[in-house]
Amino acid sequence: FQTPQLKGKHLVITAGPTREAIDPVRYLSNHSSGKMGFALAEQAARMGASVTLISGPVTLPTPAGVTRIDVTSAQQMLQAAEQSLTRCDAFIATAAVADYRPSESAAQKLKKGEADLSRIELTENPDIVATIARHSMRPSRVIAFAAETQDLEAYAQRKLDKKQVDAVVANDVSRTDIGFGSDQNEVLWVTRDQSQPFGPDTKSAVATFILEQLMTLDTSA
Ligand code: PMT
Repeated sequence: FQTPQLKGKHLVITAGPTREAIDPVRYLSNHSSGKMGFALAEQAARMGASVTLISGPVTLPTPAGVTRIDVTSAQQMLQAAEQSLTRCDAFIATAAVADYRPSESAAQKLKKGEADLSRIELTENPDIVATIARHSMRPSRVIAFAAETQDLEAYAQRKLDKKQVDAVVANDVSRTDIGFGSDQNEVLWVTRDQSQPFGPDTKSAVATFILEQLMTLDTSA
């Protein structure tokens, strides 16, 4: 981007967990609160961007000036993401998408004793950020996160290649003071030719750091 701020740019940000239904009362999910993605949406809107926030089930209020699309499952999140690509300048995948979903979701509550609840057959979910990065309407910047518990930089580099994204924001989700649910985060911004640490700091400050990195990202290489 040429301008120091994000005026005139459209950012699409995914946030929160996805929920994959086993039956009407049970699901598979994870610990994402949505705070990191919502902080990014809020800061991007403050910096003048038009922001579409695609959120899984969370309990956070919508940041001022942000257009929010609520989804439940990974498949719904992918559909909303693809539909938001028109005039999209950057896609940031903060969501903790469930990698697998139950192969079948029962229409009625499964009853203990009647159904075998000890085994659930799973089907792999689509990789949303990788799909967007290979899309015919690919935005000029596609950023993934990497939730890791060790070797942040090496795994982030691997995700950079595998998902064909321009940068990866890696964070250590084995810690309780940062990552899932907390108000703070500490990240490593990884591109093909540099990696830069930031934090620990508030998720708002981390969001500002990420957006500043995004604005100076050279995708011509
Ligand atoms: O929501 P909070 O409580 O604030 O916590 C923030 C966070 C820890 C969830 C966030 O900082 C974070 O790390 N988000 C990424 C979580 C994740 O699922 O990471 P991953 O390493 O499993 O996935 C790598 C990337 O691929 C992510 O950008 C993810 O959005 C994307 N992905 C993964 C699977 C899939 N099927 N589709 C995807 O798009």
